[in-house]
Amino acid sequence: MRHIRVLPELLISQIAAGEVVERPASVLKELLENALDAGAAEVVVTLEQGGAKRVQVDDDGAGLAKEDLPLALARHATSKIASLDDLQGVTTMGFRGEALASIASVARLALTSRAAGAPHASTLRAEGGAAGAPAAAARAKGTTVLVEDLYFNTPARRKFLRTEQTEFGHCEETFRRIALARPDVAFTLKHNGRVSAHLRAQAIGERAAALLGREFLDASFPVDVQAGPLRLYGVAGTPQAARARADAQYFFVNGRFVRDRVLAHAVREAYRDQLHGERQPAYLLFLELDPRAVDVNVHPAKIEVRFRDAGGIHQFVFHALKRALSPTAAEAPVAYARPAGPGAGLRPAFQQEFQVAQPVQAYQGFMTAAAQAVPLPAAEKSPPLGYALAQLHGVYILAQNEAGLVLVDMHAAHERIVMEKLKAGLDAGAVARQSLLVPAVLQVDALDVAAAEENAGALESLGLEISVSGPNELAVRSAPALLAGGDVAGLARSLLRELREYGAGAVLQARQNELLATMACHAAVRASRALTTTEMNALLREMEETERSGSCNHGRPTWYQLSMADLDRLFLRGR
Ligand SMILES: Nc1ncnc2c1ncn2[C@@H]1O[C@H](COP(=O)(O)OP(=O)(O)OP(=O)(O)O)[C@@H](O)[C@H]1O
Ligand SMILES: [Mg+2]
Repeated sequence: MRHIRVLPELLISQIAAGEVVERPASVLKELLENALDAGAAEVVVTLEQGGAKRVQVDDDGAGLAKEDLPLALARHATSKIASLDDLQGVTTMGFRGEALASIASVARLALTSRAAGAPHASTLRAEGGAAGAPAAAARAKGTTVLVEDLYFNTPARRKFLRTEQTEFGHCEETFRRIALARPDVAFTLKHNGRVSAHLRAQAIGERAAALLGREFLDASFPVDVQAGPLRLYGVAGTPQAARARADAQYFFVNGRFVRDRVLAHAVREAYRDQLHGERQPAYLLFLELDPRAVDVNVHPAKIEVRFRDAGGIHQFVFHALKRALSPTAAEAPVAYARPAGPGAGLRPAFQQEFQVAQPVQAYQGFMTAAAQAVPLPAAEKSPPLGYALAQLHGVYILAQNEAGLVLVDMHAAHERIVMEKLKAGLDAGAVARQSLLVPAVLQVDALDVAAAEENAGALESLGLEISVSGPNELAVRSAPALLAGGDVAGLARSLLRELREYGAGAVLQARQNELLATMACHAAVRASRALTTTEMNALLREMEETERSGSCNHGRPTWYQLSMADLDRLFLRGR
């Protein structure tokens, strides 16, 4: 019989490090964020061997007092928040008080710092979690954190480190994100003794040109839209700045680089009419909002956020960007506040306008197949979602059931159905695959190639067979059967992005739902396609048979019931 025991402190930190410190680039991210939180005006990064041997960050920020050095390395010790209230309105990059403790548990760390007004600097070394005593040292005001021999004491994790070039690639990307977020700060990046970037404090456009290329800046325009507490600003690429790769897409929320479905979707939709096929928009956008309206404490590396009003944010970003992209087509109001008026209080479905776009082959294939597969029950009792009456503007299906009127968002419903089918496939081993007659070829960067190779097994279980066809080229040879007619290259790109960001393995397990949602979204691209009554009824029947079909994968409702009583109330009709 095993007994429950409390784990030793070092092991607790090593477990936490598993989430926070995935590779040298995650160490770099934490150290850079700490330097910015300390108010640095100039930051120097020194790397060796892709960061696995050494990650060092020097800053000229506020520094630490000698007696605070041991605390800085202690778990759950932070100078940034003190209460739940602080947490909810947090404006610093860090707040958990665990990054340095986690790093120190899996590497050799030296922290040297001098606070303003201190007579000299102090230094503290820690190796695998055990810290020594602070000693006097020489240094100007500011802090140096040196992290050496990552995973020296956790060989199993060390095995997951990739080639020096790949790890350096990840570090460069981390550096780029942070440097783009803070053009007011000077940054230097050195690798193996060579300076690979040197940026002085500059305006945002200059920083964008320095890191994303002059061509990007020349083919883009500034964006700055404010609506109440929301502001979207930055630099958005015109179609001429679009690229074959999705490698210049940067979105920051209150200064933090994030990957967020709501934002990604809003941007994609705003660019939809401007770009065709495989072209990827390039942009550098900053969303600012009240920190209380966004929860940043939802992901160990803080790369995801949760908006309190995701629908409102989507609407704001979509309209702001769309308007900036096509200033003449400015009919759509930029509205953060939800509309008031007779319909306003009715149902969430009426409060969000999502956009109608092009018909898509995959969608049509699905609808036709569904129409054939599900025979209409003849004169039986009316099924729960009733029978279709008509289609409204290619977006909604109107149906009549016993209670009254049923309104269905056909795209959202389709997406949910595809998602559940994919999930069933994966639960049964792997998503059903179909080979492509003509492989879909996509231009990628070296990290994508590495991600495709490293995660081949995971990708296959998701239904994608991808081979490397050149140093910067991948070929998708088979795709999930449900999606075979759709945007296969776009799907592969999104999945690689997620795998790059989060790695496969256990993480794949944890993010399975998100991955499947990404896939479903690609299958069910917004379609403004005329459906026959038979097709609409087929969709309704599929919905009835699908688990959780009441809301789409983004949590928006897929259908609404308006009872006769609701309608009577709407028309002030007493019966
Ligand atoms: N470069 C630095 N300059 C000044 N103080 C620093 C620096 N790096 C760390 N500190 C101090 O050490 C503390 C612990 O840092 P650590 O990164 O572990 O936690 P945090 O930044 O508070 O939260 P998180 O774990 O979310 O990053 C910080 O709260 C800060 O007071
Ligand atoms: Mg920190």
